[in-house]
Amino acid sequence: MKFFIDTASIQEIKKAASWGILDGVTTNPSLVAKEGRNFHEALKEICSVVAGPVSAEVVSTTTEEMVKEGRELSRIAKNIIVKIPCIAAGIPAIKMLSAEGIAINTTLIFSPNQALIAAKAGAAFVSPFVGRLDDISTEGMDLVRRIRTIFDNYDFPTQILAASIRNPVHVVEAAMAGADAATMPFAVIESLLKHPLTDAGLKKFLEDWQKLPQASRRG
Ligand code: G3P
Repeated sequence: MKFFIDTASIQEIKKAASWGILDGVTTNPSLVAKEGRNFHEALKEICSVVAGPVSAEVVSTTTEEMVKEGRELSRIAKNIIVKIPCIAAGIPAIKMLSAEGIAINTTLIFSPNQALIAAKAGAAFVSPFVGRLDDISTEGMDLVRRIRTIFDNYDFPTQILAASIRNPVHVVEAAMAGADAATMPFAVIESLLKHPLTDAGLKKFLEDWQKLPQASRRG
């Protein structure tokens, strides 16, 4: 499963990239606004740090404007993926931009039919929002499972990018559900390796090692 970081913070992206397991970045207007930087400059910098896909979202809501904005965003760097919301005006934009060779991530996916339509329009990725469904007392991961079944039934090449991931359990479940990728906030990526038994076990190993006479510790 590919690991994407869900942030527009260049510090967080650099730190996660330095661990060597980062496959891409997703941003959205809320995350970009949080950083308070020029959108295109920030994207250019992010694309210079990460070689994999970097999702940049359009903020227009008509087909024509989305296509125009998508083309502009795609010119920032080769690895830009244009994020388009799953609304009626977005579908022809996905179709047109995909036909031009611009990879699309369809965002704000909350139902299997939305994912099916985005895949039919040629989207490279669909982003089901797991956490936001959980927030309204709906099993968010069921959506990922249902999309997986649909895409496998019809051999859609569209990748499932589990989004709105809030905790390490979401990551395990997304992997078990067969998501192609998961996008996570920095804190979630950081927490994936943590286990108290690992820390306690290592502490004990190192304490026991100290009990071995100095001369016996090296070859
Ligand atoms: O980037 C989209 C998505 O991951 C948002 O997550 O936590 O705001 O629902 P969240």
